[in-house]
Amino acid sequence: MPLRKMLDEFSCLVILVLGIAITGVNSQLDSLGFISIDCGLPANSTSVDDDTKLTYVSDDQFIDTGVNYKIASKYASTGNGPEQYGTLRSFPSGKRNCYTLRSLSAGSKYLVRAKFMYGNFDNLYKPPTFDLYLGLNYWYTVNLNSPDDARFAEIITLATSDYLQVCLVNKDLGTPFISVLELRPLETTLYRDVNSTQSLVHFFRGNTGASDQLIRYPNDPYDRFWRNYTLDTWSSISTNSIVQPDPDYATPSIVMQTAATTSSTNQSLNISWTGDNESVEFLIILHIGEIQDIPRTDYREFDILSQDPLFKYLYAPSNLTSGWVRYRDTGRTAYYMSLKATSKSTLPPILNAIDRPVKR
Ligand SMILES: *[C@@H]1O[C@H](CO)[C@@H](O)[C@H](O)[C@H]1NC(C)=O
Ligand SMILES: *[C@@H]1O[C@H](CO)[C@@H](O)[C@H](O)[C@H]1NC(C)=O
Ligand SMILES: *[C@@H]1O[C@H](CO)[C@@H](O)[C@H](O)[C@H]1NC(C)=O
Ligand SMILES: *[C@@H]1O[C@H](CO)[C@@H](O)[C@H](O)[C@H]1NC(C)=O
Ligand SMILES: *[C@@H]1O[C@H](CO)[C@@H](O)[C@H](O)[C@H]1NC(C)=O
Ligand SMILES: *[C@@H]1O[C@H](CO)[C@@H](O)[C@H](O)[C@H]1NC(C)=O
Ligand SMILES: *[C@@H]1O[C@H](CO)[C@@H](O)[C@H](O)[C@H]1NC(C)=O
Repeated sequence: MPLRKMLDEFSCLVILVLGIAITGVNSQLDSLGFISIDCGLPANSTSVDDDTKLTYVSDDQFIDTGVNYKIASKYASTGNGPEQYGTLRSFPSGKRNCYTLRSLSAGSKYLVRAKFMYGNFDNLYKPPTFDLYLGLNYWYTVNLNSPDDARFAEIITLATSDYLQVCLVNKDLGTPFISVLELRPLETTLYRDVNSTQSLVHFFRGNTGASDQLIRYPNDPYDRFWRNYTLDTWSSISTNSIVQPDPDYATPSIVMQTAATTSSTNQSLNISWTGDNESVEFLIILHIGEIQDIPRTDYREFDILSQDPLFKYLYAPSNLTSGWVRYRDTGRTAYYMSLKATSKSTLPPILNAIDRPVKR
């Protein structure tokens, strides 16, 4: 048998076997390996997201407890957030109520995201505060301030068995509820900081100089949220050329094709933020790639500096190729970082995207 033909048949077999593994008879995963749940929908019904065209299923097969509600029509019509906010499931009884996401692969990495919008579903005008856990591990405190306050919690984690549990825990500060639950598979080679004992909780992920307010699936096949992040003191640059992704974070080209810079080599590109308390441990991941066609007489390099006087990282971006710098910062509530051109550089610093998760 010619090698080519053999390979074709071999890959057919692999696809067939994988196909069964991914979409086996009782699988909860869709054809992309995603789970997309529109909580509070009647059993067996589905909804389709306008932007992503993804189909969201009812949460009926994922949980046995709770009560389905529709949000007040006043908030359903605000257009504040996706259409899945229209229904939700609330948990008036029990301290802890859990969704079980099955059909997963032990040892694989997943992005899990939960979304919340109160919408005065119980007519009490009391947006609650409650905790979210992934299994037994604290994930996020949902603290809603008004009926149309929309929040999401996102975690990148490694499944140690073939299921994950998302639990809502009552803190006696109102009735917990959930609007949307999403699971997306990630390659195990991505996010090397994530292992069986370490997850990354989303804190901030910004697409600097963005030409879209929000980038997600299908532009990001892992459906990460990349939000426009552009400060008034920055200028934006962009390219139409594809930027080669890096193998460690697979930052989408469309995110890398825009960047922030400053007006001169004398101006550093500064970012500051605050943490909830001093024990929060941030991982700062900067995504950087050259997107300007630089004349041979010019050169771009800059130092990445943090409050820690010992931290200084020299970076020279590569032409149309994604690179990254990551470091850890903790022990404060107010943080800043600065990208500062070196004396050798003829061009100001650039930054294409920044991800700032919390280790947990
Ligand atoms: C949902 O579908 C399942 C399987 O087809 C069926 O057993 C069940 O009765 C349906 N539930 C409702 C509420 O239609
Ligand atoms: C997971 O990563 C953390 C931080 O890098 C490390 O301290 C820990 O030992 C790792 N755990 C395992 C099981 O490899
Ligand atoms: C991105 O944010 C900046 C600053 O808020 C704003 O001026 C710009 O219009 C935004 N771009 C898009 C595409 O939303
Ligand atoms: C940058 O600073 C240097 C030294 O202070 C000064 O000579 C130069 O004119 C400045 N350049 C710009 C563009 O402001
Ligand atoms: C950036 O931060 C540095 C160091 O704190 C400061 O000297 C500089 O003025 C800041 N630049 C801008 C543009 O805010
Ligand atoms: C600090 O924040 C973390 C994460 O939000 C929380 O687990 C911890 O209890 C907080 N510590 C204090 C002292 O508030
Ligand atoms: C960057 O790469 C593109 C595509 O390969 C090439 O056309 C361009 O000349 C390169 N620019 C520089 C400054 O090397």
